[in-house]
Amino acid sequence: MRARLEEVREQALEELEKSKNISQLEDVRNKFLGRKGILAQQMKLLKTASPEEKPVIGKAANELKALLSSEFARKLEGLKRSQRGEGKRPFFDVTLPGKKRTLGKLHPITRTIQHIEEIFGELGFKCVFGPEIETEYYNFDALSMIENHPARDEQDSFYIGKGILLRTQTSPVQIRVMEKEKPPIRIIATGKCFRRDAADASHTSMFHQVEGLLVDKRVTFGDLKGVLEVFVKRMFGSEVRMRFRPDFFPFTEPSADAAISCIMCGGEGCSSCGGSGWIEILGAGMVDPEVFRKVNYDSEKYTGFAFGMGIERIAMLKYGINDIRLFLENDIRFLSQF
Ligand code: PHE
Repeated sequence: MRARLEEVREQALEELEKSKNISQLEDVRNKFLGRKGILAQQMKLLKTASPEEKPVIGKAANELKALLSSEFARKLEGLKRSQRGEGKRPFFDVTLPGKKRTLGKLHPITRTIQHIEEIFGELGFKCVFGPEIETEYYNFDALSMIENHPARDEQDSFYIGKGILLRTQTSPVQIRVMEKEKPPIRIIATGKCFRRDAADASHTSMFHQVEGLLVDKRVTFGDLKGVLEVFVKRMFGSEVRMRFRPDFFPFTEPSADAAISCIMCGGEGCSSCGGSGWIEILGAGMVDPEVFRKVNYDSEKYTGFAFGMGIERIAMLKYGINDIRLFLENDIRFLSQF
């Protein structure tokens, strides 16, 4: 009988190893370990063994049963794993050159915004943000842009509901900040603006602006000029000159537009500056007392200045780009140059 057990062991292990899939393995397991399997039959024969042999054979049979059970479990795991496709590693050629990954870059507008924020940040201005969807109150009324102001015409703004529109400028952020905070105020706000402009080399219906606002006691027009001059020189280089001319905005008084000496020709006059030697880059002025009244600031006590610039304009001058539409085309040949 002991010899028979030895035979069973060898036969079982051989058939187990040969099983190619889980159902074959189950059959083999039943054949040997099943209730009416070979091992069970051997156990029955134990009765016929001599009293001395009985415990020895019984022990050997139990050991065989335990061995086969664990071997079946191991084989089953192996079959399951190869069914999941593991273990079949593809050939890996270490001599092949690697795949080149192209690095993404920041969009030139994003870079320009970061540069602007950095310069004004060093001058003590805090970055704040306002909503792109605005009410007429913040976009126009609070800024003294009266009912029939041409910019309020539906032709120029994207209305999305009654009294609600995509902001046409970042100036509404001035109002939102002053409603929430008391002077001293020193903020810039960058972000998207929207106007119904037909697209051409210098217009797109979505563009970016940066708004600046400083309110405190004894703020003068000289402070405005000083701050903007530092900005312009940091942005475009120390040789660039600035010029202020009277202008009009409903929410600043007095108002001015500021121009810089042409980056391309140094002020000589060229096609970029239309021969004038100057390029306008921003609108600015002293905050109108009427605006202060709207936000409950005492205009006897406080004065302030505000300015607004088109960020695309700054980026175009900085990088020598001649068509604003390039910023929106997502052409990788253009974008990868920055
Ligand atoms: N918001 C004005 C514009 O879009 C610019 C501006 C801002 C002018 C702040 C004066 C002060 O034209």
